[in-house]
Amino acid sequence: MRLLWSLVILQVVYIGTCMEQLDLLYEWKQLDYQWPSEEVRNTALASGEFIPGNGMPMGIERHRDRLFITVPRWRNGVPASLTYINLNDNSTKSPALIPYPNWAAHDMNNGKPTIVSPFRVRADKCNRLWILDNGKIGNLENDTVKYPPAILIYDLLTDTLLRNYVFPDDQVKEESGFANIAVEDVDCEDTYAYAGDLGKPGIVVYSWKKNESWRITHHYFHPDPLACDFSVKGHNFSWTDALFGLSLSAPNADNYSTLYFHPMASYNEFAVSTEYLRNQTVADANFNAFKLLGSRGPNAQSSASFVDPKTGVLFYSLVNLNAVACWRTTNKEYLMKNQGRIYMDDEKMIYPTDIKVDYEENLWVLSNRMPIWMYGKLDSNDVNFRVFSAPVLSAISHTACDITPRSDILDKFVNKIKNVTVNIAAKVKPNSSAISSPISLLTLTISLLCFISVY
Ligand SMILES: *[C@@H]1O[C@H](CO)[C@@H](O)[C@H](O)[C@H]1NC(C)=O
Ligand SMILES: *[C@@H]1O[C@H](CO)[C@@H](O)[C@H](O)[C@H]1NC(C)=O
Ligand SMILES: *[C@@H]1O[C@H](CO)[C@@H](O)[C@H](O)[C@H]1NC(C)=O
Ligand SMILES: *[C@@H]1O[C@H](CO)[C@@H](O)[C@H](O)[C@H]1NC(C)=O
Ligand SMILES: *[C@@H]1O[C@H](CO)[C@@H](O)[C@H](O)[C@H]1NC(C)=O
Ligand SMILES: *[C@@H]1O[C@H](CO)[C@@H](O)[C@H](O)[C@H]1NC(C)=O
Ligand SMILES: *[C@@H]1O[C@H](CO)[C@@H](O)[C@H](O)[C@H]1NC(C)=O
Ligand SMILES: *[C@@H]1O[C@H](CO)[C@@H](O)[C@H](O)[C@H]1NC(C)=O
Repeated sequence: MRLLWSLVILQVVYIGTCMEQLDLLYEWKQLDYQWPSEEVRNTALASGEFIPGNGMPMGIERHRDRLFITVPRWRNGVPASLTYINLNDNSTKSPALIPYPNWAAHDMNNGKPTIVSPFRVRADKCNRLWILDNGKIGNLENDTVKYPPAILIYDLLTDTLLRNYVFPDDQVKEESGFANIAVEDVDCEDTYAYAGDLGKPGIVVYSWKKNESWRITHHYFHPDPLACDFSVKGHNFSWTDALFGLSLSAPNADNYSTLYFHPMASYNEFAVSTEYLRNQTVADANFNAFKLLGSRGPNAQSSASFVDPKTGVLFYSLVNLNAVACWRTTNKEYLMKNQGRIYMDDEKMIYPTDIKVDYEENLWVLSNRMPIWMYGKLDSNDVNFRVFSAPVLSAISHTACDITPRSDILDKFVNKIKNVTVNIAAKVKPNSSAISSPISLLTLTISLLCFISVY
């Protein structure tokens, strides 16, 4: 009986470790800023320019010693919508946000601020920060102000604005909402950005070289009417968001990447070569260049996603399951069984909202409990926002996305389990043989599931 309990405990330990592939780096109950002085902060609080409960971190990106965090102006009282924290400052786990590039870029006293309301940003390998500005102020309030969406590009070495490209009128629709951007930076002078429209299904493609953009549409960008029901921490709601997750593979021999994409209201993943996106005529003429990869399975709607170009692993959030999962793009098939689980936690990973891999091969994840904030109320005494990180290789180790050959990991794992159980058995009952009872075989089988499945 003691042997049996030991095996059960062992089992719990193994399942536990296979879910904790990321380290928790930062956490906040509410967001606050690094103000010029306490007096300025008090004035902002009194005027309603700063309403602490209204700040919701939405996007992250790491560049050298800075971790960028966007705080869209969904509600009033957000004094700066693009900020960063200094990764070298380890004096606190809840650092105050520093406006990027400065307070002036967010000032609304003279009308439109330079940076209005970005959801997600991307730092490219050429030290440029690409900011997809949604352009809306207070879209959860009654007095929404709409400016045209834009891409702003900053030089991260000098923090100066290089471009402010406002989307042409004919590429922005009444229902448009731009929340996600992927940047194809194979060539620093011939870089392309892909901005996803979740309101009116489409992609706006921007060419850095031409300083021009065009709009591409496809049925695969549309929401699936059978995948619009969401349930997060007791809040049930219906979302019809279209194209959402956008992530680019490493380039092929001809320098074209594959864009992996999915609508928010969908269980499916799709892919298309950027060869077709870089020219609107070519995209329109090649409907079949857009491929359905497969389904993540029921309840598996995903928001943000990101491909690590080095390992070719696609990381994505599973918003209903409070989880981050992965799939190797070298797999032939996109199936439930060849997806791996990176992290799953019903408290800490409520609504994973952004995922990035930096140029030093670290995975970054932000969770923000957004549906509770939208449909209920966040508890300001509880931790609501969390930033997780881990080197990609340790994040994927012992999962279905591990890049060491699968049979090797399985053998290693089986041997390890055998050794541990043999040792325990030797202690408890010196002359018995360990892997003989059906129960221990069952627990071994269950343990192996964490290699294979997200569920
Ligand atoms: C904090 O960061 C400094 C400089 O990066 C480093 O020397 C120090 O060991 C760190 N302290 C902790 C507690 O991690
Ligand atoms: C918006 O208007 C509705 C009714 O018109 C009102 O009930 C609600 O309180 C208003 N919300 C805000 C944030 O002003
Ligand atoms: C691909 O891009 C790299 C870097 O810009 C360049 O050196 C190479 O010649 C390109 N290859 C092709 C086939 O265009
Ligand atoms: C890019 O195009 C926009 C108009 O679409 C223009 O305002 C801007 O000056 C151009 N930038 C450059 C660097 O050519
Ligand atoms: C929310 O949906 C779940 C299933 O997705 C269901 O079990 C639950 O009863 C629903 N809750 C409410 C309050 O409707
Ligand atoms: C786009 O492709 C079409 C058809 O191949 C071609 O005629 C056109 O010149 C291309 N446009 C650009 C801007 O390259
Ligand atoms: C299991 O034990 C054997 C013999 O004691 C040893 O050679 C082997 O390295 C161990 N395997 C693991 C994974 O610890
Ligand atoms: C275990 O087996 C060895 C030899 O097979 C024997 O000498 C020893 O007494 C046994 N121990 C017990 C506790 O049965």
